[in-house]
Amino acid sequence: MHNFEYFNPVKILFGKDQVHNLSKLLEDHQKILLTYGGGSIMNNGIYEQIQKELTQKEVFEFGGISPNPQYEDLLDAINLAKEKDVDFILAVGGGSVIDASKFIAAAIHHKSDPWNMLAKSEPIEKVTPFGCVLTLPATGSEMNCFAVISKGKDKLGFGGDPRLYPTFSILDPSYTFTLSERQIGNGVVDAYVHVLEQYLTTKINTPIQDRFAEGILKTLIEEGPKVIEVKDDYHSRANLMLSATMALNGLIGSGVDHDWATHMIGHELTALYGLDHARSLAVILPSLLRCQKEEKKHKLLQYAQRVWSIEAPTVEESIELAINKTEDFFNTMGLPTKLKVYKINEDQIKELSSVIEERFSGKLGQNKNINQDKLYQILTMAL
Ligand code: NZQ
Ligand code: ZN
Repeated sequence: MHNFEYFNPVKILFGKDQVHNLSKLLEDHQKILLTYGGGSIMNNGIYEQIQKELTQKEVFEFGGISPNPQYEDLLDAINLAKEKDVDFILAVGGGSVIDASKFIAAAIHHKSDPWNMLAKSEPIEKVTPFGCVLTLPATGSEMNCFAVISKGKDKLGFGGDPRLYPTFSILDPSYTFTLSERQIGNGVVDAYVHVLEQYLTTKINTPIQDRFAEGILKTLIEEGPKVIEVKDDYHSRANLMLSATMALNGLIGSGVDHDWATHMIGHELTALYGLDHARSLAVILPSLLRCQKEEKKHKLLQYAQRVWSIEAPTVEESIELAINKTEDFFNTMGLPTKLKVYKINEDQIKELSSVIEERFSGKLGQNKNINQDKLYQILTMAL
């Protein structure tokens, strides 16, 4: 096991009606910037509930944050927060609203162009405290210190700074009842791929992390389809919500090797062709696993045996069956696993592989060895 430091200060309030603790959680804060997305919280009553909890506060609002939040759209929020001198940001929504709020919280204090925190890795100067009310289980942003922001054709991540952890996150599974099947499928697959990016790497004797990871994977396989089929099952939604949070809060990733190539390639697919985040992952992961199966062999076999109960005559067959099962699972959750569904053809993957090569100079993947040829191979297999 590799050496590691683990620190996660996010206070989680999980379960029905936890929103009633909001005023207590905010007792040290007075001027609140409430951030949200394109209107789902208005239609499902969450906005109204939040307003009731904030009656003693001075509240300023910034709504309209889009999926894959855009830098330019957030500039008004940064100006508003500065002008009103807000002392807390309350993000109500999915990963996009939470990520945007993390960015705003740091951008308020950034002396140069805040985009430089992402494009030039400029250090974060200060962060206004913020908290979350999660409405979409998927990204894990509610319990981690990372965010992904887009600017034109650039979709970049930043974080790793402990000040970017939310102070608290309210996780009420009943808030997910209004999600579409598409968003549920996306959430399940995003969380699943988060686990695989940390689990399907090298076998270095990390049984605790492995079994935590396998537990999350098996839960997603069992509960994901149930959430879609049984519309009013609170408990399945609770299990999905906890799985997604645990998938990317640092715990299963401690002391193990990481990959993240699927995510990096996926971000480019989103930036260039507009695929939903999880849909980009569903297309890339199966062919990436096939191309990288030699270096992932031991973990792929363990995954086949422990997660899918596969015992084929050869290692090769077990691995191929496990990748097929993974693809089938994504399809069951409503996510296609081929680029052609998105009308992306050979010309476009040439463009894509050179954009990715320029950004990462062949240094993608667990062994930083996915060069342009390999990338092209992965994308061609995904056609
Ligand atoms: O905008 P509104 O109207 O709220 O609608 C949203 C949005 O259209 C809707 N929605 C959310 N909660 C709902 C709801 N609709 C009905 N009922 C509810 N309860 O769902 C749509 C998608 O929301 P979004 O926040 O974009 O989805 P998600 O949570 O999947 O977040 C995706 C973003 O997170 C980034 C992605 O790259 C993408 O930008 N990620 C962030 C990570 C992190 N911070 O650690 C890691 C991830 O790998 C990912 O990269
Ligand atoms: Zn993701």
